[in-house]
Amino acid sequence: MSGITIAIDGFSACGKSTLAKQVAKHYGYIFIDSGAMYRAVTLFALQNGLIENGELNSSHLIDKLNNVKLRFEEKEGYSRIFLNEVDVEDEIRQGEVPNNVSKVATIKEVREKLVEEQRNMASSGGIVMDGRDIGTVVFPDAELKIFVTASKEVRVTRRWKELMDKGIQADIKEVERNLLERDLIDSTRLESPLRKAEDAVVLDNSEMTRQDQLQWVISRVEDVLVSKNLS
Ligand code: DC
Repeated sequence: MSGITIAIDGFSACGKSTLAKQVAKHYGYIFIDSGAMYRAVTLFALQNGLIENGELNSSHLIDKLNNVKLRFEEKEGYSRIFLNEVDVEDEIRQGEVPNNVSKVATIKEVREKLVEEQRNMASSGGIVMDGRDIGTVVFPDAELKIFVTASKEVRVTRRWKELMDKGIQADIKEVERNLLERDLIDSTRLESPLRKAEDAVVLDNSEMTRQDQLQWVISRVEDVLVSKNLS
C-alpha cells in the first residue's frame, strides 16, 4: 500500500481517535490508536499485580515487557487491540486502566518498545496514527501533523458521553479529575512529553461537527498530496 503518514496528537478526549478513524476510512489508510497500546500494557501490569494501591512496580514491568504481545485486528469495520491473543479493546477503557495509564506511559523502556512496534506497523505507508508523541517522536518526518485541541468542558462532556454510550456508569467530576491528571502527567513527563511539533497544524474542534473536522483535515491532506504529486 502507498500513501502518506498522518500524525494526530493532542490532549486526552479531544476526539483524536474519532478523527483519525474518519480520515483513515476516507483514504483507505491504516488507523492505529497508539493510546490503546499504552492502555494494554497498563492492563498487563494490573493483571500481573505490578500496580498495587496506585503504586507501579516499574522495574518488574520492564523485566516482563517481552511477555507483552500486542496486535490490532479489524472487526466489523473497527480496529480492536489484542493483548496476548485476548481482545481487550473494551477492558482497557474502564476500571483501573485509565487511572494508571499515564504512569505506565512515563517509562522509557515501555515507550521504546511501543514506538518500535508503531514504526513497524507503518512501514508500508498510508497510515493515520493518533497519540501524544506521534509527530514529535514516532514519525518526525510525517507528511502531515495535526495537533488537536478542544475546550476542557467539551472534552469532559465528550468522554463522559462516550462512557455512558458504552453502558459504563461514570461520575462527570471523576471523568474531569482523571482527564486533568492525565493531561498534567502526559505533558510534564521527561520521556517524550506531549507537545505540538513545530510543523504541526492546530485544529480546535470545540465548535466543529465530525463532518466539519473531517472536511478540515481532507483539505490539508489534499494540499500535501498535490505538493507531492500524489493526487
Ligand atoms: O489516547 P488515550 O487517551 O487512549 O491514551 C492513553 C494514555 O496513553 C495517555 O494518557 C498517554 C499515553 N499515550 C502516550 O503517552 N503516548 C501515545 N502516543 C499515546 C498515548
